[in-house]
Amino acid sequence: MTISSTLPKVMKAAVVDAAGPPEAIHIKDVPVPALPANHVLIALEFVGVGIWDAQQRAGSWGSVKPGTIMGADGSGTIAAVGSHVTKFHVGDRVYSYSYGYGSGGFYAQYVSVPADRVAAVPAHLEMKIAGGMPCIALTAQSGLETLKATRAQTLLVFGASGGVGSCAVWLGSEKGATVVGTARPDAQEYVRSLGAAHTVDPNSAEREGVIKRAAKDGFDAALVTANSDALAYFFSHLKPKAPIAFPNGVEPKPHLSGHPVSAFDGAMSHEAFERLNAAISTKTLPLRVQVFSFKDVAAAHRRIEEGHVVGKIVLHINL
Ligand SMILES: NC(=O)c1ccc[n+]([C@@H]2O[C@H](COP(=O)([O-])OP(=O)(O)OC[C@H]3O[C@@H](n4cnc5c(N)ncnc54)[C@H](OP(=O)(O)O)[C@@H]3O)[C@@H](O)[C@H]2O)c1
Repeated sequence: MTISSTLPKVMKAAVVDAAGPPEAIHIKDVPVPALPANHVLIALEFVGVGIWDAQQRAGSWGSVKPGTIMGADGSGTIAAVGSHVTKFHVGDRVYSYSYGYGSGGFYAQYVSVPADRVAAVPAHLEMKIAGGMPCIALTAQSGLETLKATRAQTLLVFGASGGVGSCAVWLGSEKGATVVGTARPDAQEYVRSLGAAHTVDPNSAEREGVIKRAAKDGFDAALVTANSDALAYFFSHLKPKAPIAFPNGVEPKPHLSGHPVSAFDGAMSHEAFERLNAAISTKTLPLRVQVFSFKDVAAAHRRIEEGHVVGKIVLHINL
């Protein structure tokens, strides 16, 4: 095991002891997590806040185990490596997506995660963007891979202004697909900045005209990050048998007879991270992030529960 010479035994973490409102999260001292042989310990800098965190905190998934540290992704530097880990070294800039690994999540100064759920942060990528990206970008990538998105396609991203949607627009456009993204009017310029060829308010009277111009023969595929009454209208403009994919968590689950509909999860593997890093390469991913200070974690949860976040919310672990 290699460790940073300054590694403490105790850290600050945002902990939930029982399901409740945002104020149920409190910052307290807890032990720095253990380091199994195949893990790395990351000193976190920025961590992602997702709607799933708020749902878990509120008890939507059942009771919350006392002492739960939420959070599934973030960026930081390697503080220690387990004895079986050769790929990483103390001081490396990394980001990670590791969901459902015990109760020790990312809302903390340190997280211990399997090394195969970690990747180097591309050199030019800002740490605050890297901290918000892993879950949503890997999920968007899984969705595009499920749909077998290609450069020849006209791709509908329904719900393009949120986390998964932002990354799907950028990754799909980078693949060369013509992306049509749905977004409220105040988020449309942002969605176009990610590469969308066309944007449309899903509830507007103009949607018919936009779809006629953008996808006159219909959409080749649809990535769906939210469900609403408007979705059926967009589905009526799919080509025959065009595939539909949505990440688990979208409710009610979209369906359309005559079309293959796939539910998927974001891949957390090393190989998935390698593909994401290859797509990013030296490019800039203009993901919009709204940064909250770690001590304002409850405010970050209140904000995400209000809805209509454009881009992604991150916590700055600035203690
Ligand atoms: N299974 C997995 O691995 C996985 C991973 C990540 C996320 N997810 C799930 O994927 C979904 C999206 O996550 P996210 O982080 O991208 O969420 P998000 O940031 O809240 O984005 C949701 C998007 O859907 C749009 N939207 C919401 N309600 C809408 C409505 N009624 N009509 C039209 N558009 C609507 C939002 O736009 P407005 O804000 O303008 O309404 C936004 O563009 C969630 O259900 C999440 O749980 C699953």
